[in-house]
Amino acid sequence: MHPAFDVAAGTTATPITFVSKSSLSSAMDVLGSSSRQFAEAAGFKARPGQCLLLPSAKGGLENVLFGVEDESARWRDPFRPGQLPGLLPPGTYRFANAPHDARLATLAFALGSYRFSRYRKAEPLDVKLLLANELDAEDLSRMAEAASLARDLINVPANDMGPEQLADAARALADRFGAKFSCIVGEELLAKNFPLIHAVGKASSRAPRLIDFTWGEASHPKVTLVGKGVCFDTGGVDLKPASGMLIMKKDMGGAANVLALAQMIMDAKLKVRLRVLIPAVENAVAGNAFRPLDIYPSRKGPTVEIGNTDAEGRLVLADALALADEEKPDLLIDLGTLTGAARVALGPELPPFYTRDEALADDVARHARAEHDPLWRLPLWPPYDSWLDSKTADINNAPSGGFAGSITCALFLGRFVEPATRWLHVDIYGWTPSSKPARPEGGECQAARAIYKLVAERYG
Ligand code: BES
Ligand code: MN
Ligand code: ZN
Repeated sequence: MHPAFDVAAGTTATPITFVSKSSLSSAMDVLGSSSRQFAEAAGFKARPGQCLLLPSAKGGLENVLFGVEDESARWRDPFRPGQLPGLLPPGTYRFANAPHDARLATLAFALGSYRFSRYRKAEPLDVKLLLANELDAEDLSRMAEAASLARDLINVPANDMGPEQLADAARALADRFGAKFSCIVGEELLAKNFPLIHAVGKASSRAPRLIDFTWGEASHPKVTLVGKGVCFDTGGVDLKPASGMLIMKKDMGGAANVLALAQMIMDAKLKVRLRVLIPAVENAVAGNAFRPLDIYPSRKGPTVEIGNTDAEGRLVLADALALADEEKPDLLIDLGTLTGAARVALGPELPPFYTRDEALADDVARHARAEHDPLWRLPLWPPYDSWLDSKTADINNAPSGGFAGSITCALFLGRFVEPATRWLHVDIYGWTPSSKPARPEGGECQAARAIYKLVAERYG
């Protein structure tokens, strides 16, 4: 069970009452005149996010009032209750009435209790929520725990989260669920034909590698997850400016979310043969780094001209996707923090996704909405495919012009996946720039929850 949850029947729990501006008066009728007087004296107006601790006659804590948006509001944040763990004193609580989505509110409570405390001792929160019987406590726990895993992996700085440590984290997860783990490291990448992963990672003193683990019965449908594991992205020789480089420890966010997704799938024992592939590299600067206009072969065959060494994510994913595709998976999914252009288009909270499969697109959009793990479809727009043409090689990794950068990145990846493969690509951000309810500033779990539910629905 997630540490923010309690399910023990009989536990005494302080009620949390959700109130909006329009329901405040009737809520106070129920709570009595001294509570009403106290709320008025304290200036409690049921503004969204406003919290009031109501004392009992004996001086204890009788009730918590928490303001939420009115029903008529343009938008009601289903994660608003994620603020509660940061506002409440230690203790066990329960929802006295239903927030507008009780399941997401409960999930938000756990997501909002996350703290990254590896490098600085934080006071333990000790705030627990007693779950309502009708909720699936295990599933909510599973999702909140996966989010913590993704956030932790991203938040650990690059000095402690290089390709080797990322592989250690993947191995620990594989071991926990009895998955078969292997890893191809350094020069061996060339011998085993992963030229692009090697090219991107070779300038770092921390050797590049391809993490590979497999779980589940061989006869089950094959679901393969590929995650961009760039442990730090300096941009390479096409060096990023300081402002653009600052948060590039998060450039393994695709890998972190793939591991979070794998953890949910394995923990729920979904009937799939799961494979996880993570090209783990550091895009560093050194005399032996790959350069603009270098040309490399790729695992799948096409030669790749380097238009920009900062478009490294699509290079490492290209070789990993080619390997994944060789065994014709039933569903091939890749996640990566691939372009700044995706942020320009949709901002940090709404990652674009791409697929050639209409039914899959509908399902992704539906689960993204239901889980409040928002995703928005963008097209693999065929007319832009020719922008990837190179004058000297089969394909260029960074078209000049810079238009539609997230789309051209998706089209680039599409060249390394057979048209017949059911493929989903998500260009995530993996980071919350400033805290919001249930979403503390820093590394973020994106797309994993929606895709977990999709996989569970299709192969549960
Ligand atoms: N990791 C970055 C993408 C990124 C940048 C994500 C900032 C989130 C915030 C990626 O490797 C990258 O540098 N992409 C380039 C591609 C360009 C050179 C074609 C970009 O988006 O600028
Ligand atoms: Mn880059
Ligand atoms: Zn990158």
